[in-house]
Amino acid sequence: MPRTLLVLNGPNLNMLGTREPATYGHETLADIADLCRRTGSALDLEVEFQQTNHEGQLIDWIHQSRGRCAGIVINPGAWTHTSVAIRDALVASELPVIEVHLSNVHKREEFRHHSYVSGVAVAVLAGFGSNGYRMAVEHFAHLLKA
Ligand code: DQA
Repeated sequence: MPRTLLVLNGPNLNMLGTREPATYGHETLADIADLCRRTGSALDLEVEFQQTNHEGQLIDWIHQSRGRCAGIVINPGAWTHTSVAIRDALVASELPVIEVHLSNVHKREEFRHHSYVSGVAVAVLAGFGSNGYRMAVEHFAHLLKA
């Protein structure tokens, strides 16, 4: 059974730390990668952490995870609200998926209330900041034990 988790981040998340800190906080994506790797390593899970601003790249990483990873943690950024292609790729991966958002998308503009990913995810975490990523990694350890 693979013990590798793929943690994927979509567009503009490379700007964390300086991007709208009132909404997304002051932590950088490198801080979040570190948090995921430390959380994973304490639970005997290897974390592969990636970010891209190119939708096709994200889809390629999802395809390559099939049969190789135990699950996917994904913050699809704005593609959450627009991309049927990412949803389809996640289904094709046949892996359990946890969707994470730093902000509480339901408290924000209406166009952020709909997610193409939630319907194919085992769980959704929104509004917990970077803690949502930590909880997602911990939940995978729990799922793998079951
Ligand atoms: C986000 C929420 C999205 O609506 C937004 O487009 C992002 C970040 C979040 O983490 O809160 O880029 O996914």
